[in-house]
Amino acid sequence: MIKAGIIGGSGYTGGELIRLLINHPAVEIDFIYSTTRAGKSVALAHPDLIGQSELIFSGAINQEVDVVFLCLGHGNSTQFLKENPFSSETLVIDLSNDFRLLENSNFGTSQFIYGLPELNKSNIEKARAIANPGCFATAIQLALLPMAHSNLLQHDIHVNAVTGSTGAGIKPSATTHFSWRNNNVSWYKPFTHQHLGEINESLLTFGNSLGKIHFLPNRGNFARGILATAYTKFEGSLEQAKKIYTSFYQHAPFTHIAEEPIHLKQVVNTNNCHLHLHKHDGVLLITSAIDNLLKGASGQAVQNMNLSFGLEEELGLRLKSIAF
Ligand SMILES: NC(=O)c1ccc[n+]([C@@H]2O[C@H](COP(=O)([O-])OP(=O)(O)OC[C@H]3O[C@@H](n4cnc5c(N)ncnc54)[C@H](OP(=O)(O)O)[C@@H]3O)[C@@H](O)[C@H]2O)c1
Repeated sequence: MIKAGIIGGSGYTGGELIRLLINHPAVEIDFIYSTTRAGKSVALAHPDLIGQSELIFSGAINQEVDVVFLCLGHGNSTQFLKENPFSSETLVIDLSNDFRLLENSNFGTSQFIYGLPELNKSNIEKARAIANPGCFATAIQLALLPMAHSNLLQHDIHVNAVTGSTGAGIKPSATTHFSWRNNNVSWYKPFTHQHLGEINESLLTFGNSLGKIHFLPNRGNFARGILATAYTKFEGSLEQAKKIYTSFYQHAPFTHIAEEPIHLKQVVNTNNCHLHLHKHDGVLLITSAIDNLLKGASGQAVQNMNLSFGLEEELGLRLKSIAF
């Protein structure tokens, strides 16, 4: 069995990792580190786990685990690893944005590999350190990668995406407070969201030129999921676009092209990304839907772990959507 450690296990992505790993047939959770809950029951922080897990949060870490997942806020992962070095045999999977960009990918003797399997599978299989992508970044890259690969993103690209409140983490804030968020919608960080760096870097890996990405993130009044739309000039037919996408994702078990327009609930609680293509007046509209906590975070982290340990990519990730 693979021995796993989780840092930040009382948060949202840490909680999702616990839910996934207690049901993963090849993994045993060795410890769940918490700065605030050491000695307390994990099911107290995550009451859906009552009767499913007797695990207790720990104030200590085991530096010899086979894999450790860092589920900490940005900047804290670097600090944590400096203070708590893991064995050179330990696979480190970081969910923050500390190591995602190439310029930040070296840490000590480790090089973090960008963990988007649809882009980087063969490198992930060999990796000892993985920078798990951002949630918006995952939805948007999966919408645009096939076009970038076919050198079809020379014109401006307009992206609009809406996220649920879990995207902002467990600590309540003015814009995740129920009274504000419920029955409400708003944009934030227009054209400057921090995920643009990793999106641009990935789309440029094929060596093709890239138009400017105009990204408008929105806060939705729901808890989980991201629905993103992207559109850009496209001279080809809808059938040609569909061929480009199905060919690019032919070996991607979680990314699928839908014939009918998609909605959020068909992917919520799964590790899937569903894409839909629509052509109108020389413009291709691509819609992308993911669960921010699964394909956008913890599900993708487990997918990366599976690849790195030579396991079946979908192991422990065949999940049931909420559907309605
Ligand atoms: N939420 C999403 O949809 C999503 C998607 C993709 C990526 N991410 C990224 O994943 C990371 C975790 O996100 P999250 O939403 O799970 O955050 P979160 O709900 O705020 O949880 C983070 C947890 O980290 C622990 N923590 C905080 N400061 C710490 C420190 N200095 N040292 C050690 N532990 C510390 C806390 O747990 P204890 O009190 O138990 O120690 C806290 O509950 C972030 O970098 C986020 O940007 C999030």
